[in-house]
Amino acid sequence: MKLPKRVTICEVGTRDGFQIEPEFIATEQKIEVVNRLAASGMPRIEVTSFVSSKAIPQLKDAAEVMAGIARRPGTAYSALVPNDKGAVRAVDAGVDEIHTVVSASESHNLANVNMTIAESLVKLAAVAEVARRAEVAVVSGISCSFGCPFEGDVPVAHLESVVARLVDLGARGIGLADTTGMANPAQVARTLERLVPRFPGVEWTLHTHDTRAMAIPNILAAMEMGVTHFDASIGGLGGCPFAPGASGNVCTEDLIHCLHAMGVETGVDLDALIEASKRVQAIVGRALPGQLVKAGKWDRRYPLPDGVRERIPARS
Ligand code: COA
Ligand code: ZN
Repeated sequence: MKLPKRVTICEVGTRDGFQIEPEFIATEQKIEVVNRLAASGMPRIEVTSFVSSKAIPQLKDAAEVMAGIARRPGTAYSALVPNDKGAVRAVDAGVDEIHTVVSASESHNLANVNMTIAESLVKLAAVAEVARRAEVAVVSGISCSFGCPFEGDVPVAHLESVVARLVDLGARGIGLADTTGMANPAQVARTLERLVPRFPGVEWTLHTHDTRAMAIPNILAAMEMGVTHFDASIGGLGGCPFAPGASGNVCTEDLIHCLHAMGVETGVDLDALIEASKRVQAIVGRALPGQLVKAGKWDRRYPLPDGVRERIPARS
């Protein structure tokens, strides 16, 4: 396989994950989770979102969370925004990076942010201006890049036109989001094969959801195409409240375990991450989809059943 030496993970659990939790998670607990994730060596954390508190009541404490976290050098702290109001709030809260959201599907964009794609792009131009003045980088995410739960197929030509507009607005990075886990690895490879050469200099991120168990295969396909930035969520938390059928992101510790097992570096301490995941499970009060916390790492060994050791033939 053509694997990179190193990839960069952006942890999105406290945003994409917590946003759909039904019970309000106390601000101090959100802060604790962000700090634990940073302490594991996580290079990027999408801490929260600055959106309407009517749309996402769970993240109404975004500014308090940003103010309460301990900033670890080496971790870039970002937040998701849909419009310039969110960008101003995010900059005031001290984010290192702004992540924006627009969908490649008109139906999902209207359901998610109550705007047409064209209306969103007007707002994102205003976000770009806020970010430019504050000297904060923008990474632009595109929901439903590989399919929409309402419309089905999203033509790649259409996705490309949204990418082109965001690149024009000065986005340093583009995040292709598979919001409801509709992408397959061949499609991911085909899409990147078309987009990557057309936008030189763009840093591509793949944002996956494991709704149909294709998240890690899709990430492998993207790595083969040269992508080295991936979003993931602790424990596999996650889902968009405005996309029916959405479920959790690829689980961070499962993904990092897979990468480390293949010799791909992330700079993250997997054991610390597993402990963080257990803590998140305790906070949300249920088991999360991640497999590693249940199975242990690949080098876990079990005691032999009685009477077996004596019968193992000596190696010649
Ligand atoms: N942060 C906080 N409040 C915001 C805001 C922001 N970024 N943007 C708008 N608002 C407030 C407005 O001030 C207004 O408040 P008021 O009712 O007290 O006057 C209210 O939200 C409605 O604003 P309006 O501009 O009419 O927007 P809307 O009702 O059409 O909602 C969005 C548009 C984009 C603000 C809303 O749909 C949203 O926040 N969506 C986010 C969805 C999301 O996070 N999805 C998951 C992630 S992909
Ligand atoms: Zn998502």
